[in-house]
Amino acid sequence: MNIAKRNFDAVIVGAGGAGMRAAVGLAESGLKTAVISKVFPTRSHTVAAQGGVSASLGNSEPDDWRWHMYDTVKGSDWLGDQDAIEFMCKQAPEVVIELEHYGMPFDRTDDGKIYQRPFGGHISNFGEGKPVRRACAAADRTGHAMLHALYQRNVRANTQFFVEWLALDLLRAADGRVLGVIAMELESGELTLFQAKATLFATGGAGRIYHSSTNAFINTGDGLGMAARAGIPLEDMEFWQFHPTGVAGAGVLITEGVRGEGGILRNASGERFMERYAPNAKDLASRDVVSRAMVTEINEGRGCGPNRDHVLLDITHLDPNIIMTRLPGIREISIQFAGTDPIKAPIPVVPTCHYQMGGIPTNYNAEVVVHGEAVPGFYAAGECACASVHGANRLGTNSLLDLLVFGKSASQSMIEYIRRLPAAQPEIPQAEIDRTLARLARLDGQKEGADVHETRLAMQRTMQNHAGVFRFKEMLAQGVGKILAIAEDVAQIQIRDKSKVWNTARMEALELENLIEVAKATMVSANARTESRGAHVRDDAPDTPEHPDGRDDASWLKHTLWYRDGNRLEYKPVTLKPLSVDSVPLKKRAY
Ligand code: FUM
Repeated sequence: MNIAKRNFDAVIVGAGGAGMRAAVGLAESGLKTAVISKVFPTRSHTVAAQGGVSASLGNSEPDDWRWHMYDTVKGSDWLGDQDAIEFMCKQAPEVVIELEHYGMPFDRTDDGKIYQRPFGGHISNFGEGKPVRRACAAADRTGHAMLHALYQRNVRANTQFFVEWLALDLLRAADGRVLGVIAMELESGELTLFQAKATLFATGGAGRIYHSSTNAFINTGDGLGMAARAGIPLEDMEFWQFHPTGVAGAGVLITEGVRGEGGILRNASGERFMERYAPNAKDLASRDVVSRAMVTEINEGRGCGPNRDHVLLDITHLDPNIIMTRLPGIREISIQFAGTDPIKAPIPVVPTCHYQMGGIPTNYNAEVVVHGEAVPGFYAAGECACASVHGANRLGTNSLLDLLVFGKSASQSMIEYIRRLPAAQPEIPQAEIDRTLARLARLDGQKEGADVHETRLAMQRTMQNHAGVFRFKEMLAQGVGKILAIAEDVAQIQIRDKSKVWNTARMEALELENLIEVAKATMVSANARTESRGAHVRDDAPDTPEHPDGRDDASWLKHTLWYRDGNRLEYKPVTLKPLSVDSVPLKKRAY
């Protein structure tokens, strides 16, 4: 088969915040840079980020990157790598100001500075003070504004975009170095080899492994699937964040910025129940804490509505002008998806799958690292990567920060690497290409087998029921069996439409092949981790004096690595030593 080939200095898969921030750095340094994306760049899932991007600018009250670092380590339940966390929090003011200079339309304070609001788990004075205004916001459309600013900057820098292309597999040389990707143009169904000196995955998350998710339909873990098939492990995949405020029944995100502006969660009797679970931070405790409190209220019969299956997010006490200027998007979402105008009545909400803390293992230079060694030519940034700055639970607004810091860091590492390389590049081994061709041929030749939609639904229901907000020993063990059986179905999925042009059935089948790798990694890693930490809370690992919060540092202060080959696990230590300051010492997490 004759496959077209294109050569670039750098290829980036994914046009969300991380991919586009990296592309700016690469293209502005004069390197020939391609960005491959399933959707038009400004429609990438970063567009859905609402409430803000964190940075200790201190525009409204004192703040300090060391406080931000402390909050992030605590939020991660000490699973985050403290070198990477220091790197991110220290760089935050610089990357946000850079974005401002790219033209990002932040809201403003009365004296013209970037507007900042409080967000869950962001507290002053090493966790001892009050919630601090650290989330830099463009109303409740911060991700949307960010994507537009970055896209325009890329157009100026001559980045080449390949829009509505699906990357299929990573291409590696015999010595393991990464040579680019093979991708399919959706419009024509034709394949192209994108050979590059350096390849960055910025493919976002895989929240579509769950049935109820704030994630877009495009969030199918493509980077993770490609990495896993190429022999790269996936790190800490047991840790999934459930955002407390998805619209009940629809899953659409209602930003935590609503609680930052003064919103209150109430149960069926109107009680502000977070006062019982987090007496200091209340509604602004970290997300895992708030989500568990909400599910506990519902499970104990204090939920709202005829089925007592949700709680209420109340902002009726706020000045309507604040709602219309600071939260216009969530008012619209609430009217459209919940049939409720939040100026007049509270919004029905439930915790909904929102974010994967784990991903492709990287260091803070965004180099992909396996067994302590950087994989030459391979980088990852954003939600698909695990640096690990979020550990077992991410703080709100640290995701947009992660995109900026590690997108920029990836571009710097890639520029250095590309400049060191000899001009001649190795040939792509035919066996690498044949692997992808065989996958496509199987799909085209398959005459019977599992239906894509039904198989995906079975996977999503299994993930939701067996690895949700609260996890149960027996359910996790059963979940492993079920997901492995579903994986066998995925290996036999069939599509009836074999045509080439804009064949969404083929695309969904290929996406499901990526999702199932993420689902396997999640279930197997979660079943193995017999402690409770951050977003991973098990019934058989309760709070005891010896193990506060069910966390077992003696046995489990380590990162999980799941390998597709053999469906096996390895572990590696957490980096407790920051770059320049003292470690944040281990202690019980309370808000
Ligand atoms: O609630 C939100 O606006 C989401 C922010 C985030 O996930 O960081």
